[in-house]
Amino acid sequence: MIVAFLGAPYAGKGTYAKMISEKHDIPTVSMGQLLRDLSKENSELAMEIKSYIDKGILIPDEKMLEILENELKKEKYSKNVILDGYPRTLSQAVMEEGKIDLEVVILFTTSMETIIDRGAGRRTCKDCERIYHVKNIPPKKEGICDVCGGKLYQRDDETPKAIKNRLEIFEKNIGPIVKYYERKGILKRINSDPPYEEINKIIKPLEMAIGLR
Ligand code: AP5
Ligand code: MG
Repeated sequence: MIVAFLGAPYAGKGTYAKMISEKHDIPTVSMGQLLRDLSKENSELAMEIKSYIDKGILIPDEKMLEILENELKKEKYSKNVILDGYPRTLSQAVMEEGKIDLEVVILFTTSMETIIDRGAGRRTCKDCERIYHVKNIPPKKEGICDVCGGKLYQRDDETPKAIKNRLEIFEKNIGPIVKYYERKGILKRINSDPPYEEINKIIKPLEMAIGLR
C-alpha cells in the first residue's frame, strides 16, 4: 500500500508520518529529508539540490521522480510505504501514474494561525530525524533528542524568504492536485489543527483513513 501525505509547510506531515510509521511499522520516505540527505553528498547534484531547498523552491519534476523511483527500489519499501511530501505538483501526480500507484492520498488541512505557531519553533534531530517543537513538543533536555540523544537543529530552509516561497508554492499547486485525486476518489482530508495534547484527534481519523483501524 502506498499512501501520500500532502499539506502546507508545518502542517505536521513529518510528525504524523513518524508516528504512524513507528506504531504500524510502515516505512516512510520523507521527500524533504531524502533531499536534505542527498544535498550533503559531494557532487554537483548535491549542490544543485541544496540551492533549491534553501530557497524554498521545488526540485524539477523529472529529477524528483527519478530520485523517488530510485529510493523506492529498496526492499524495505516493497510492501507498504508512506510518502511524506510527494507529489507537490500536478505533473508529479500525473507522471507517477502507472509507476507509483497511490491507494490513499491524505491532505492535512491547517489554518494559517497553526502554521505560524508551529513554524516558529521546530527542531529536528540530526541523527534519527525526530521532530520537536520548542513550545508545543519540547524535548526533555533542551537541544537533545529524547530517543537517541542526537543534537537538535533548525533547518536551513527556515528563513523568512524560504518559508514564504514554500507557502506560496504550496498554495499555487495544491488545488489541481486535490482535484486530480478527488476525481480518482482517493483523497481524504484530515484537520491537523488540534494541539499536541489532543493528538488522537488527528491520529485516529488518520488511521481510519489509511485503513489501519
Ligand atoms: P519538506 O521537508 O517536506 O518541507 P515542507 O513541505 O515545507 O514541510 P515541513 O517539513 O516544513 O512541515 P511538516 O508538514 O512536515 O511539519 P512537521 O511535522 O515538521 O520539503 C523541503 C523542501 O524539499 C521543499 O521546499 C523542496 O525544495 C524540496 N521538496 C520536497 N519534496 C519535493 C517534491 N515532491 N518535489 C520537489 N521538491 C521537493 O511539523 C511542524 C512543527 O509543528 C514541528 O515543530 C512539530 O513538532 C509541530 N507539530 C506538529 N504537529 C503538532 C500538533 N498537533 N500540535 C503542536 N505542534 C505540532
Ligand atoms: Mg516535514
